[in-house]
Amino acid sequence: MGKRAQPLLAAALLCLAGLAVAEQEQDWRSRGSSEDKLAQVMRTLPSAAHIMNEMGQRYQNLYWAGKLGQWEFAAYQGEEIVKLVELLQISSPKRAATAQVFLDHAMGEFDAAYEKKDWDTFLHAFRSMRAQCLACHEKNDHGFIIPPEHPVSAPSVILNLPR
Ligand code: HEC
Repeated sequence: MGKRAQPLLAAALLCLAGLAVAEQEQDWRSRGSSEDKLAQVMRTLPSAAHIMNEMGQRYQNLYWAGKLGQWEFAAYQGEEIVKLVELLQISSPKRAATAQVFLDHAMGEFDAAYEKKDWDTFLHAFRSMRAQCLACHEKNDHGFIIPPEHPVSAPSVILNLPR
């Protein structure tokens, strides 16, 4: 590099460093008060719509895991469904009571299906769970959201189904 270029480069670097500092000053994660930080973090809590988008996928995965006789994977999907409803209870307190009804009544029948490794028992359990999904949608003014009785496919790569 020629001697004349050196001051130019130094100036450019200083300029970049200045920009980085300015950016950091605006960054609530490093500069905000604890109150501001908490308020911002609260705004990032997942909404019911976010949670339910994943719920729809796990619903499909659960159905197809059962259909393909992948019982452990089915049980795992069921556990994740429960965790999603528990998360919703925390992030959307106004839905907590209706979510509790789901937790108390939706998943009880699956254990028998996994023990017997039996599709008919599983389908019965799946239908009971679905009825609780529908009931909760109804109670939360979203009765028009109706997950299919027989999902045609499922998104998990583990199940390797055509989409
Ligand atoms: C606590 C009540 C509650 C339970 C339990 C519940 N849902 Fe939901 N669900 C909602 C609400 C509320 C919405 C609408 C979300 C919004 O826009 O605020 C929703 C929306 C959805 C959506 C649409 C998501 C989208 O944006 O495309 C799907 C799919 C869904 N639910 C599936 C299910 C399935 C499957 C179950 C059962 C395994 C279930 N839900 C259980 C309350 C519930």
